Amino acid sequence: MPGCLLIGNIMKIKTQALLKTTVVAALFAGALCWSAAAGEATQNWDANCAACHGKDGKGQTKIGQKLGIKDLTDAKVQASFTDAEAAKDIKEGITADGRKKMKAFGDKFSDDEVKALVAYVRGLKQ
Ligand code: HEC
Repeated sequence: MPGCLLIGNIMKIKTQALLKTTVVAALFAGALCWSAAAGEATQNWDANCAACHGKDGKGQTKIGQKLGIKDLTDAKVQASFTDAEAAKDIKEGITADGRKKMKAFGDKFSDDEVKALVAYVRGLKQ
């Protein structure tokens, strides 16, 4: 998120004389950016993923049942893919039996947004 980096850098320059303040300011900016990214991921999930995976990630939607989507709250399902695989699937989509099952979101989301979505998916585990 370039905006956050910018805020962080300005804060650093302003407070360079006081090392302690710099650390506090950097932490503060980091916390702000982190919560913004997490909130964004929730919105992105609800708007782009929930139609198939369900808001709760269980996949109990009409499309989800048709496509045989696995329950993302299940620890076994979560263990069946790595973060890198999940990120790749979100970016490139999933094709099975020559048919596109999950849409590719690589054009829609930045790498950071994809990362935040993977973290969100991990948080669905029960
Ligand atoms: C058109 C329906 C559809 C949409 C929309 C969709 N998915 Fe999927 N997703 C699937 C299907 C089908 C699978 C493969 C079956 C399974 O493993 O559950 C899948 C699998 C996954 C997996 C498991 C990856 C793996 O390797 O098994 C993750 C993580 C995931 N989706 C995340 C997302 C995220 C994040 C979004 C929104 C940005 C999203 N999906 C949007 C249908 C969809």
